[in-house]
Amino acid sequence: MGPFDWLPHAPLEAMQLDWLNGVELAVLRLDRIDPLISGNKWFKLTEHLAQARQAGANGIISLGGAYSNHLHALAAAGKRFGFPTVGLLRGHPHDTPTVLDLKACGMHLHWLGYGGYRARHEPGFWLPWRENYPDFYPVPEGGGGMAGALGCGGLIEQARRQLSTVDWADYDAWWLAAGTGTTLAGLVLAEAGAHPVYGAMAVPDDHGVAQNVSALVQGGYELLDASRGGFGKVDPLLLEFIESTEQACGVPLEPLYTGKALLALKQQIEAGRFVPGTRLIFLHTGGLQGRRGFTA
Ligand SMILES: Cc1ncc(COP(=O)(O)O)c(C=O)c1O
Repeated sequence: MGPFDWLPHAPLEAMQLDWLNGVELAVLRLDRIDPLISGNKWFKLTEHLAQARQAGANGIISLGGAYSNHLHALAAAGKRFGFPTVGLLRGHPHDTPTVLDLKACGMHLHWLGYGGYRARHEPGFWLPWRENYPDFYPVPEGGGGMAGALGCGGLIEQARRQLSTVDWADYDAWWLAAGTGTTLAGLVLAEAGAHPVYGAMAVPDDHGVAQNVSALVQGGYELLDASRGGFGKVDPLLLEFIESTEQACGVPLEPLYTGKALLALKQQIEAGRFVPGTRLIFLHTGGLQGRRGFTA
């Protein structure tokens, strides 16, 4: 496998919105790095792929749901860079727009059912898969873990070298959606205390984001609840907000992560958390392919 020396470009753009109340906002658009390999997923994968290569692996095996942005990016990367991929899926066989893309990219799929998928953290889960695919490297759900975080460190540099395009000399903090908290941990590591990182949690507390993050980094971040009643729960106010944001500044959001994260920022600004003049970078983590699940 590899080497994979693709360093995609994520544009940094100013966001003009009528609720900013003097706060300045720029968005680092990972949704625009590639039509297929979108968002934080490529960055989370890079270090895993490097480790797979070092281990002499000939392919990657990973897991996720039927709308998984992670599996989508992995399958597309496998197709683009010519390595085989295996996806272990939650639930029973059914076609979603995402699953059709996985198949079209040549990913080999196994459906684990719901109980089978829940067993993914149990010791021995990987054993049969290692036997079936001895030269495949396992990547955890969502491309997480320390390797996933390290791969995201490069995002800081992407933003820093474009600050002049939004007429900034510096910025004050990052704002992004957190699902496992891996991307957030990557920013915290790379910032090394220089700027705080705010994570708007798209999942409720019991998903263990706080534990995941504190296992990877110490301090330099804050987690806030942005789940709006549960992962995947969508309400009219959220959908209206997504629609009006796209109309106001042309930035498309999806309802699971990026929409909830930006809406949480609006609420925090309204509550007076940031003084006028504060410069925030919103990390657009992509995931727009998953929107098809809501319109289909
Ligand atoms: C679009 C999108 N944004 C944010 C996240 C959260 O990233 P992390 O799991 O690194 O917190 C994910 C996936 O988990 C995602 O698909």
